[in-house]
Amino acid sequence: MVMRQNFLPYNQPDIGDEEIRAVTQVLRSGWLTRGPVTQQFEQTLQDLLEVPYVVAVSSCTAALHLALVLHNVGPGDEVVTTPMTFVASINAILETGATPVLVDINPVTGNINLDAAKAAINEKTRAILPVHYGGLPVDMAALIALRDRYGLAIIEDAAHALGARYEGRNIGSFGNVACFSFYATKNITTGEGGALSLTDPDLVQKARTMSLHGLSRQAWNRYSSGGTWAYDVTMLGFKYNMTDIQAALGLTQLARLGDMQKKRRALAFRYHEKLSRLPLKLPTEPSFTDHAWHLYAVRLDRNKTSARRNTVIQDLARHAIGTSVHFIPVYRFTYYQDRFGWRPEDFPMTEAFYETELSLPLYPSMTIQDVDDVAQALATSLTGG
Ligand SMILES: Cc1ncc(COP(=O)(O)O)c(C=O)c1O
Repeated sequence: MVMRQNFLPYNQPDIGDEEIRAVTQVLRSGWLTRGPVTQQFEQTLQDLLEVPYVVAVSSCTAALHLALVLHNVGPGDEVVTTPMTFVASINAILETGATPVLVDINPVTGNINLDAAKAAINEKTRAILPVHYGGLPVDMAALIALRDRYGLAIIEDAAHALGARYEGRNIGSFGNVACFSFYATKNITTGEGGALSLTDPDLVQKARTMSLHGLSRQAWNRYSSGGTWAYDVTMLGFKYNMTDIQAALGLTQLARLGDMQKKRRALAFRYHEKLSRLPLKLPTEPSFTDHAWHLYAVRLDRNKTSARRNTVIQDLARHAIGTSVHFIPVYRFTYYQDRFGWRPEDFPMTEAFYETELSLPLYPSMTIQDVDDVAQALATSLTGG
């Protein structure tokens, strides 16, 4: 039985000398907050996603909130979404005054069940907010059919989906607003950060203005040479801008995204190979999609094992292997239960998924040997050998 000498964390950001150099350069430049480097980051991400517009902001949570506000979602409106997400998705809806309506998930993918979403649509429904769980795209064809049939806004929570593709197109380029996260654990990081990809030019200027208090001119335009001190406030906005410090980190990470994604994919494939004979349900990648491999989320196969998920997690910890669980479904939290009366029994697919799920270590600086160690520790926990 292999016992690792050093702890294998569940996640680790991949920060090298290039990142440190780029951030240091901004720190020495005399301009720290949103300015030319953020603009460059937006342009680079735009090119990479093959979308007309990107607006960089302070987090994916901010992006989701902004996206909903841009679509005038507010009190009295309903937004259909998934319980298999981080609370950020729900809180962004609640911050607008709208009501989140949860529907169950597809038990294979972990993504929102779009038939259930369709059944939840009524005259109050203004938007659907799907999550590309773990980096696996939702069924975009079905989602777009719903959008076009019911005239709903689609706000994609693409926190996990940088690098994901559906029928050869990047997630973020389907004519909806997609919201990305550059939080420390994500496929690229800016420490904290996020972005909206948009295709509707009417929304772009509003998104930029709203991300900085509704000011008619960003500080950079006012303080650079030839700038003027005057500005107007043309709408109510938020303090959601990205900084050039974050953008410098992000630009360096974006330059390495292709390479980092290749590594994630290779590690995921090694997991597939090593885990295929264990009593586990492994993540799937239909042929018409490219998974972003943000998570490698496995589930215990209840037809083949009675092992408890929490015991397996403890066993892996004893082998010096970190894991996580994605997600504790949002209806399980006290605040939402008290407010909306949500009950686990109303979401049987999500419950079954949650009870059996664990996310294995997956990040570009891991080695094939690390994957093999995880696989061996899992085999020991599940089959005793
Ligand atoms: C599915 C999902 N949505 C939204 C978020 C929020 O992202 P951020 O931390 O950038 O606000 C996260 C972050 O973990 C997430 O996993």
